[in-house]
Amino acid sequence: MPLIELNKISRQYRSGQIKVDALKGINLTVEKGDFVSIMGPSGSGKSTLLNIIGCLDKPSTGTYILAGRRVEKLADNRLADIRNRFMGFVFQSFNLLPQLDAQANVELPLIYRGVGGRERRRRAVKALESVGLAERLHHKPAQLSGGEQQRVAIARALVGEPEVILADEPTGALDSHSGRSIMAIFQRLNREEGITIVQVTHEEYIARNGVRIIYLLDGAVEREEILKTSDQARPRKQLVPNMVS
Ligand SMILES: Nc1ncnc2c1ncn2[C@@H]1O[C@H](COP(=O)(O)OP(=O)(O)OP(=O)(O)O)[C@@H](O)[C@H]1O
Ligand SMILES: [Mg+2]
Repeated sequence: MPLIELNKISRQYRSGQIKVDALKGINLTVEKGDFVSIMGPSGSGKSTLLNIIGCLDKPSTGTYILAGRRVEKLADNRLADIRNRFMGFVFQSFNLLPQLDAQANVELPLIYRGVGGRERRRRAVKALESVGLAERLHHKPAQLSGGEQQRVAIARALVGEPEVILADEPTGALDSHSGRSIMAIFQRLNREEGITIVQVTHEEYIARNGVRIIYLLDGAVEREEILKTSDQARPRKQLVPNMVS
């Protein structure tokens, strides 16, 4: 059973008289442990697609089956639940809260889940250690480099133990050295933790960290390029059954 299955997904935006077909009949399957890069020109629908995969947005038509369950018509609070238990998000602009230090930023998703203070701190420190930031726990975002801020954002995505990491241009605001260190972290999470990754990027060398590249053009899949055989990316972690109930 694929982890993610999109069938004939379309998304139409309407503002006043103008209609935009941002996605037109997307079919996409993502297996557990996959590492997919999405490329394509500006406006081709990459962020729209990632937002639908991440249950941040709903398709206009088509079906979305996530871990065996139809999710495209679920109510917003159910989708929020799925996001919380299942997905970690990483964005180009980091989206850290400026007044909180690294550790407090990483603890935030656990506060929403009602995890107690001591356990929260333990998990936040562990997540920050795993991205090489053990020495930066009490730095605020403004006191961190761009690459370090993005690593805090990854730690925040990891602290909820997601099955999937969804990243929209995670290296778009970084120099190539910092970008490569982010990709090294993604590679490790994918290979060693079995975390499924779907990332959007404009850069070929970033896209090539995945096992396949989906090229979008005008809201449709133009072509797909397979980079590595899937057993190089096979997960070691077991799929938790009934994650979506
Ligand atoms: N909220 C919205 N309302 C109306 N139109 C939108 C909205 N969001 C996106 N669009 C339109 O949908 C199309 C796809 O947008 P999307 O943001 O998915 O592109 P993208 O591939 O991520 O581009 P970029 O590389 O610039 O980030 C664009 O034509 C955009 O103008
Ligand atoms: Mg975009």
